[in-house]
Parts: sequence; structure tokens; C-alpha cells
Amino acid sequence: MGNKVKVIGIGPGSAEYLLPKALQEGELCKVLIGSARALELFNTKGKETKIIDKNLMDVLEFIEEKRKTEVVGVLVSGDPGFYSMLAFLKKHIPSEDLEVIPGISSLQIAFSRLKLIWQEGYLLSIHGRPLDNLIPYMEKRKVLGVLVDKNCSLEEIKLLLKKWGRWKIHICGNLTYPEEFIITFNTDEEVPTVSLDNCVVVIEPDEE
Ligand SMILES: C[S@@+](CC[C@H](N)C(=O)[O-])C[C@H]1O[C@@H](n2cnc3c(N)ncnc32)[C@H](O)[C@@H]1O
Repeated sequence: MGNKVKVIGIGPGSAEYLLPKALQEGELCKVLIGSARALELFNTKGKETKIIDKNLMDVLEFIEEKRKTEVVGVLVSGDPGFYSMLAFLKKHIPSEDLEVIPGISSLQIAFSRLKLIWQEGYLLSIHGRPLDNLIPYMEKRKVLGVLVDKNCSLEEIKLLLKKWGRWKIHICGNLTYPEEFIITFNTDEEVPTVSLDNCVVVIEPDEE
């Protein structure tokens, strides 16, 4: 019991893509929890902060303790509804004690940069998940927006995709940061040498 916990989407990372509502809600919090890069976007003067680490139960304990007396905000990248800590928090905190402030997802930015329509595509994640998660979507030959991580192998992704014809693969990295890059290749070409750290991959059927 205690104050509601605000789960605040911070967007893909740069201040330009942080919603004014997220900033406002962050201001109302006395305790802010998030990655170092997320906390940097907020004015933390006079607030208590905690960096999220891998021990989520520890973070949960901290939240439960603090929310007894303070308004707590949990900052998550992109939109909270898409592969964020919200899924974990929902398992441990009743929904009526959570407030969710949306953010712009990294995949929204990727699709807009590529001028692609996402209403007919599929959005999924192989960030810390098996590559085989892609398989059910391959036969449909629709656009796929995929969250990846630095341990994903582009070579393995390419080899898997080739079984279902030719595809264009767009690697979209560090979106909205000055170091943003987009590299496109197709499954007949050599895989570019680039780390998939802080990247999303957009895959589209290449019919030419
Ligand atoms: C835990 S998931 C969070 C997804 C987030 N909720 C969203 O809506 O974008 C982390 C993944 O999001 C993607 N991501 C987040 N920020 C990014 C950015 N600025 N550029 C590219 N990918 C990003 C990467 O695939 C990263 O591995």
C-alpha cells in the first residue's frame, strides 16, 4: 500500500523525443529510478535516485519501501507497454497502484526514419530471447520490427531469413542520438560489421 508508482516512458533517448507529459510527471516524483541515461533527462535536484540494475527484486523492494511515503517514478526506455520493466512490475504491484505514461518507442522512430508503414507489420523482440522467435512470422512475408541486443548475430539472422526468400535488413542504431545510424543490406549481400548494441532491426520482403 502507498502512493501509486508512475512508470514513465522516456522515448528512444534524446531530450527532443521525450514527451512534455513525461517530464511533468517526473517533476512530481520525489524518487526516480532508471538507467543513468534515463535519469540524465530529468531534473534530479532534491530527488532521490536509483540506477536500475539486473537485480529486479532488489529494485522492487526499494520501490515498495519508498512508495509508502513518496511518489516514485520508474523511467523506462521507449514506451512502457513494449518490452519494458512494466511487465515485471505488473506481476508484483496491483494495476490500480500503477500509472503508465506513454513514450515514443524505438520502433516508431525506426519506421518513420525508413518511411515504412507499420500497421501491417509485426513487432517483436529477440533481445535476450531466441532467434527462433522470428520463425512464425517469416512465412507471412510482412514487415517486421525487431528489438535486438549486442549478443544477436546478424549472420545468423541473415541465414535464417534466407530460408524464406530475399529480405532487406535495416539496422537502426542509437536512434535520436547524434550517433544515430541506419545501415541497409539484403540477404544476398555480405553482413556489415556493426554491433547490434542499442539497435532495432527492421526486416522487409525484398521482391526485386
Ligand atoms: C528493454 S527494450 C525496451 C524497448 C522500449 N520499451 C521501446 O519501446 O523502444 C531495449 C531495446 O530497445 C531498443 N532501443 C531502445 N532505445 C533505442 C535507440 N535509441 N536506438 C535503437 N534501439 C533502441 C533496442 O533494441 C534495445 O535492445
